[in-house]
Amino acid sequence: MKIIATGSSVPQLELTNDMLSQMMDTSDEWIRTRTGIQSRRILSTESLTDLAIAAAKKCLDQSSLQGSDIDYILCHNIVSDIVTPSMASIINKEIGSCCPTVDLNSACTGFIYALDIADSLLKTGKARRILIVCAEEMSHFIDWDKRETCVLFGDAAGAVIVEDGGDETYFHLSTKYTDALNCNSKYASSPFRKREMPYHYLEMRGRDVFKLAILNSSNDIKKVLEKANIKPNDVDYYLLHQANIRILEAIRKELDLPEKSVPHNIEKRGNTSSASIPVLLDELNRSHTFKKGDLLAFSAFGAGFTSGACLIRWQLD
Ligand code: UT7
Repeated sequence: MKIIATGSSVPQLELTNDMLSQMMDTSDEWIRTRTGIQSRRILSTESLTDLAIAAAKKCLDQSSLQGSDIDYILCHNIVSDIVTPSMASIINKEIGSCCPTVDLNSACTGFIYALDIADSLLKTGKARRILIVCAEEMSHFIDWDKRETCVLFGDAAGAVIVEDGGDETYFHLSTKYTDALNCNSKYASSPFRKREMPYHYLEMRGRDVFKLAILNSSNDIKKVLEKANIKPNDVDYYLLHQANIRILEAIRKELDLPEKSVPHNIEKRGNTSSASIPVLLDELNRSHTFKKGDLLAFSAFGAGFTSGACLIRWQLD
């Protein structure tokens, strides 16, 4: 499988640590040293669907393809701004394609899952060219009264178009249940509902997630390198889920990697869940970081506890 285009979109509103410290009992110093985050973009006037469409269109523009050239759309979001139809169906209409569409949800690991599914669709010949869009509005379901979680997240959308061809793409994916990270749905009231409305914001045991993230990501990467029969330093760039700079550093040290092989944008984006890797990928692509033939590793983790890694050869000039 090869990536033939990338795109991303972030909201206009930049929310800095200093702005947050005016709203709650926190500080730039705490957030910066514990997470590496300095600011994040948050949806205000735009919608999540606007971001997703913009990321998809940027991808198409970069590839010079038309919407009608796309023959499958996989969209990933934990919570969309529209319950139904799916975000993928709306993107389908907006870009002028007429192909199968589906929304997936595997939490922050979503981009790797979407790539894995796309790889299978391409290999079986069910699709020739697939648009993947990961769009996340974390600000919609974090509790803005809880400083432990609300300072960590941002909103964004990232997209890629993939085609069959190029070198083999390797994956290692897993899910092992834990309740360290979860979020209940907000229900409309029903006259028949006898259960209490659950707390419907993101809940997280930060320290547990921190440890699981380092353990799972390091193991997934080792497994995927084993499958491809290569060593950690044979990979040119590791694009890791942007959840915490200390998590990235711990994984980098565990694999004994040079600093330049683990790029990051968490400083200005925060944790944007499944959008974090495709947004970083697009920013690096547009700043001409990669050269043709570079080997990229992606690795992410999230609620579930899902985690996964992928190894893919960069084919763009
Ligand atoms: O996509 C996956 C999603 N989640 C993650 O990847 C998160 C993984 N976990 C983490 O990144 C870290 O655990 C956090 C950044 C969430 C927290 O860092 P920590 O070093 O584990 O801090 P802590 O939770 O142990 O809290 C330390 C102190 C506490 O005060 P006391 O009990 O020591 O007095 C907290 O109440 O920091 C306090 N604290 C804050 N202080 C200022 C918690 N949040 C804040 C805050 N500002 N925003």
